[in-house]
Amino acid sequence: MDVTYLQVKNFRNIEKCELEPCDSVNIIYGQNAQGKTNLLEGIWLFTGCRSFRGSKDSELINFNSSKAILDMDFNAYDREHQAHLEICDGKKFVLNGIKKTSGQIMGNFLSVVFSPVHLSLVKEGPYERRRFLDIAISQLKPKYAVTLSNYNKAIAQRNILLKDIAFHSELYDTLDVWEDRIAFFASEIVRQRLGYINKLSLYSQDIYSGLSSGKEKLDISYLQQTMIAGDSKQELYENMKNQLYLSRKNDLVTGSTSVGPHRDDLDIKIDRLSARNYGSQGQQRSAALSLKLGEAAVIKSFSDQQPVALLDDVMSELDETRQNYILNHIKDWQVFITCCDPSTVKNLKSGKKIELKGGKIK
Ligand SMILES: Nc1ncnc2c1ncn2[C@@H]1O[C@H](COP(=O)(O)OP(=O)(O)O)[C@@H](O)[C@H]1O
Ligand SMILES: [Mg+2]
Repeated sequence: MDVTYLQVKNFRNIEKCELEPCDSVNIIYGQNAQGKTNLLEGIWLFTGCRSFRGSKDSELINFNSSKAILDMDFNAYDREHQAHLEICDGKKFVLNGIKKTSGQIMGNFLSVVFSPVHLSLVKEGPYERRRFLDIAISQLKPKYAVTLSNYNKAIAQRNILLKDIAFHSELYDTLDVWEDRIAFFASEIVRQRLGYINKLSLYSQDIYSGLSSGKEKLDISYLQQTMIAGDSKQELYENMKNQLYLSRKNDLVTGSTSVGPHRDDLDIKIDRLSARNYGSQGQQRSAALSLKLGEAAVIKSFSDQQPVALLDDVMSELDETRQNYILNHIKDWQVFITCCDPSTVKNLKSGKKIELKGGKIK
């Protein structure tokens, strides 16, 4: 998969820019605050996912304009595609002349992004890791996003009911209806997450080993706050239902649901120690990067398409051995790497260098 043409208008600080990237490594360089990350963000939006900076749509539009317009041509699944995005009152996509919603555009243009915000994957609490898992699985299987949304709605309903029961004890019997729904969706979520992590752990481990020249070992696994074990979906469903039943007494006191995949986590260990609690800065960075590049490998194994890699500010923070590993590892993909000083990637023999200044390509 590769981007062959990009035109950006009134997006962030980029008033107008046009780009014909090469199909290997593209280095976007320039001083701070020139629009390098903005350019990656623009490409990323064609995945149909929200901005990786968590920005609102209105923040994406240039301060002096009321509409941002992005056009991108890309090769995928053995043909050329033309994608168009307008951000004005929400996002409007057009793919090969046909209007699409964000949900419908997903799965057409595949990309993985690593930016400094992704360090939160290792450093922050479980929410960030669940979000990572959920987005990664949704990109591969859009049905998963629907299951997740149904699950969250059912949890919200049970929580309302838990609070209402204090005033209307006759409602107690209706708990069963919501618990049944929750257990049904939860069993699918847990099954999908376990399957995904199985694959991801193999690839990420391999990449981490490469980054650390074989000196350190990365282990990732699914961490269930309340164990819902089972080999089949039916077994997971029954166990989840039982756990919900057992938690009723406690949950009626707190007014919230204490068991289920909305409380689970992804455990990340380096040489058997928690990366969050014991990892050095460099180790945490390498672990987060391994997860993101591992995500790309899983996409490749599912779709046979190599996702475009967007690497924001990654090089400056790694030693030369690690930098060289990354460059070698990704040399057969299309990559966009941002940095302040292009000499950071001096070992790169081919590729395109793009200088950004004040939102314009020099
Ligand atoms: N909606 C917007 N309109 C105009 N400028 C913006 C908008 N959003 C962000 N910017 C500007 O973009 C610049 C940051 O761009 P960024 O791509 O993050 O820089 P860098 O080159 O360091 O990666 C900041 O100066 C910021 O004020
Ligand atoms: Mg930046």
